[in-house]
Amino acid sequence: MQHLISPSLLSADFGNLQRDIEMINKSEADWFHLDIMDGVFVPNISFGFPVIKYIKKHARKPLDVHLMIIDPDRYIEEFNKAGADILTVHYETCNHLHRTVQNIKSHGMKAGVSLNPHTPVHVLEDIIADIDLVLIMSVNPGFGGQKFIPNALDKIKKLKKLILDKKSNALIEVDGGVDQTNAKLLIDAGCDVLVAGNYIFGSPDQIKTISELRNI
Ligand code: DX5
Ligand code: ZN
Repeated sequence: MQHLISPSLLSADFGNLQRDIEMINKSEADWFHLDIMDGVFVPNISFGFPVIKYIKKHARKPLDVHLMIIDPDRYIEEFNKAGADILTVHYETCNHLHRTVQNIKSHGMKAGVSLNPHTPVHVLEDIIADIDLVLIMSVNPGFGGQKFIPNALDKIKKLKKLILDKKSNALIEVDGGVDQTNAKLLIDAGCDVLVAGNYIFGSPDQIKTISELRNI
């Protein structure tokens, strides 16, 4: 399939958020990537429901919401009400991942599971057929603008094999340090969705950068 681009709003200008949302609306990007951090699971706090609702009001593309929070089950309904279309939880935060995934799907959202750089792909063996997306972290979550960890490429190849073996429909998304130097390698390894924050928002022509990433 044609790979998708999900710009991370973490690197947007929050003083001009509506302008940056409109830029993504106009661009060839496919989704909006929203990073929700609680200051406990990750050493940073980002933004919460009022901001997500505001983004939903203006966005004309699906909201791809990446939860970096402990005990995500407590908030699934609220994220749904705020406008999440895809809700991704971290494997490392869920004791009852199967229940969490079913809970997300019962609210009509797509369910994603994210793996930190140290978490091996094989832990998803018994849940891969039930999920819509796997988010491979190619940096340690918490901040934008970090350096890509090359081992993510091997993980994506292993994950692609697991998805085919288990006849899963899950998409593979990669997040962290994605730019022009690794995008093609990631797609060739089997990646379906590229998240990029700093590379897009730090570039002088953001629309063009998105287009270049999408047309690799
Ligand atoms: C990191 C976040 C990422 C981040 C990516 O914890 O999950 O989505 O915003 O930013 P870049 O592309 O700048 O590494
Ligand atoms: Zn993210």
